Amino acid sequence: MSRILIEGGIPLSGVADVHGAKNAVLPILAATVLNEGVNVIHNCPNLRDVNITLEMLKYLGANVQREGDTLTIDTRGRLGNHIPEKLMRQLRSSIVFMGAILARNKRAKISAPGGCELGPRPIDLHIKALKELGVKIRETHGYIFCNGLGMEGKEIHLSFPSVGATENIMLAACLAKGKTIIQNVAKEPEIEDLAAYLNKMGAKISGAGTSRIVIDGVERLDAAEHRVMPDRIVATTYLCCAAVTGGSVEIRKVIPDHLSASLSCLRDCGCEIAVGRDWVKLKAPGRLHSVSDITTMPYPGFPTDAQSMFLAMLCTAEGTSIIKETIFESRFKLVEELVRMGADVTVDGRIAVVRGVPKLSGADVSAADLRGGAALVVAGLAAEGMTEVENPHFIDRGYEQLEETLTLLGAKIKRLLD
Ligand code: UD1
Repeated sequence: MSRILIEGGIPLSGVADVHGAKNAVLPILAATVLNEGVNVIHNCPNLRDVNITLEMLKYLGANVQREGDTLTIDTRGRLGNHIPEKLMRQLRSSIVFMGAILARNKRAKISAPGGCELGPRPIDLHIKALKELGVKIRETHGYIFCNGLGMEGKEIHLSFPSVGATENIMLAACLAKGKTIIQNVAKEPEIEDLAAYLNKMGAKISGAGTSRIVIDGVERLDAAEHRVMPDRIVATTYLCCAAVTGGSVEIRKVIPDHLSASLSCLRDCGCEIAVGRDWVKLKAPGRLHSVSDITTMPYPGFPTDAQSMFLAMLCTAEGTSIIKETIFESRFKLVEELVRMGADVTVDGRIAVVRGVPKLSGADVSAADLRGGAALVVAGLAAEGMTEVENPHFIDRGYEQLEETLTLLGAKIKRLLD
């Protein structure tokens, strides 16, 4: 079993670049199914989740090639309707293939998706919206059978601004007859990136990034070239790593606007922050200050994906911090591990109370999900002595060359392979 070994207590310094956004590239790869051509997608990180998505595309019949961070996806010819359960189970975001395959073939057969264990992750909003577009859906023997022959544009109101449901509707509606208006959609930057790519393909989507998206269906879409946006959660992780070690870093190839909720919290913790067109500089104080209230919210609120890293970081801040998780209910699994490192954190339902201690001490801990795993690395960098993080495969879902990047910033971190 491989592990990440960290010798903590070294203030990080230097410059690091951020790779393309996992949560943007996954729906963009699914969107290549909407055209029959050769798509060129740049800034695609080499991550486990991206590679599983490529397996899905290959299973459907697409030809996939990688050269560095550029993927070429050839979707000419016949593509299948079905993604097997074995692949679907590995990735929550695989559900967006439902909208993509439906748009192309008008029929799809997929199983319920998997992904990190963050509590129940229903797909009722996806199903309800597609039914409203006229898709006939039958669920039987663990499979979802979709018939979109009668699909046409409608006005849809989401009861919650789900990122995945917004993406699924966008994908399905691009090639549906007529106009689709979606109200109360997710405003995450990844939605804007998907819309930008679809529009390059010839789609007619407006309003992405606001709570109302309008899509005028078109008859066909053409292949397109696109550069994926930077990963705002990876950027936030590196900033937290620097902040928790009392370091001073410059993180490049980011869109600072996407980070505003996290940057505002880091300022509240006492960090000096400077931003430029595509970089952020952070200088941490001797000891971080606590934050009275971090509540996770849909974008532009504080991102649930950054919550674990802030929780780990605040373990050694001066004073007591309160963190409320409103999006996913099982996002405090890492607390048990942090307590093993000497943290003083109590959890009551969706609220964590973090009483800052002067120091954490290195321990053997185990990652249980992607961001929780990254947060244990944040804690390990600050802790006295050695920390071993087991199950780094969770971290590999979302971070390319994590150890290499942190080493570049002066951390003592390496992977032990068995
Ligand atoms: C995406 C991100 C994930 C991020 C999350 C919230 C990707 C690949 N993943 O996940 O990293 O943490 O957005 O920013 O982009 N819900 C329902 N019914 C549904 C759909 C969602 O009840 O049909 C609930 C979920 O259980 C959850 C909340 O809505 O409580 C948010 O989910 P959603 O926005 O859909 O997240 P994902 O698209 O799964």
